[in-house]
Amino acid sequence: MTSIAVQAFADQAAPARALALALGAPFRPIALHRFPDGEVMPVVPAPAGAVIAYCSLDHPNERLIALLLAADAWRRQGVERLVLVAPYLCYLRQDKVFHPGEPLSRDVICGLLGAAFDRVLTVDAHLHRTRNLSQALGGIEAEDVSAAGPLAEALAGPKRPVVVGPDAESEPWVRRIAERVGGETLVLHKTRRGDAAVRLRAPDLSAVRGRPVMLVDDICSSGATLIAAVGLLRTAGAAAIDVGVVHALFDAETEARLKAAGVQRIVSTDTVAHSTNHAPLAGVLAKALRDEVKS
Ligand code: R5P
Repeated sequence: MTSIAVQAFADQAAPARALALALGAPFRPIALHRFPDGEVMPVVPAPAGAVIAYCSLDHPNERLIALLLAADAWRRQGVERLVLVAPYLCYLRQDKVFHPGEPLSRDVICGLLGAAFDRVLTVDAHLHRTRNLSQALGGIEAEDVSAAGPLAEALAGPKRPVVVGPDAESEPWVRRIAERVGGETLVLHKTRRGDAAVRLRAPDLSAVRGRPVMLVDDICSSGATLIAAVGLLRTAGAAAIDVGVVHALFDAETEARLKAAGVQRIVSTDTVAHSTNHAPLAGVLAKALRDEVKS
């Protein structure tokens, strides 16, 4: 059996250790040297036959460089199999050239990762216009793991909830959460007007009057989408609103604005380290990686 270890930089040691524990594999930290001019140099631990690199790619402009340099170091150490676990996979939202002069960021970033790793595992990737993650990564093995189970478990409690999504793209999460917690579903219509400006509409919100609502989405970044949805739902008479998001990319100020808008509870998975993390994913990630520790 090939020796395998889960490795991560210090800032992601906690979820990486939890994954290693769930897999029954050792955890090894990667050292990161910072030069005075801001350049970085990872120093990877003693070689293993295979490496599971845990590196969620929020703060991508910092983390991508360190990760790609580490991949080079692993190969130079003779690592034969390199598996990247990036619970949040960055730059997928720019999945087309929306206006002349823009890049196709998804293809640039996925191209780099696909060339560096043998397999990439992520969680609820923003694949709304990307049919095939493996193809985007240049044909390497790739999986998009669903966080619906742990998120539904963390949200569960309110009786007869209405599970609401703020836009058509959130429909798969609405459906998967509602299958687990029960209740009705409702999907709103969104028009984006800028990075932090959206307009939401709903033909009929009567279903939420006096009912608990679970408002779910894959990403919360500026918070504009969820804050607008909370406004509509409150006006429509929702009894209590809980929010569930997979990737918590929002800051403390946005969290305070969501609470001030009337959100009772905010629950996120731990794909991005955040004060709202109540749905750990080590279990579902380990399940998807079982074949790596068995071979
Ligand atoms: C969009 O397609 C996503 O599913 C989210 O709705 C979006 O990224 C949320 O962004 P924000 O919090 O900035 O409105």
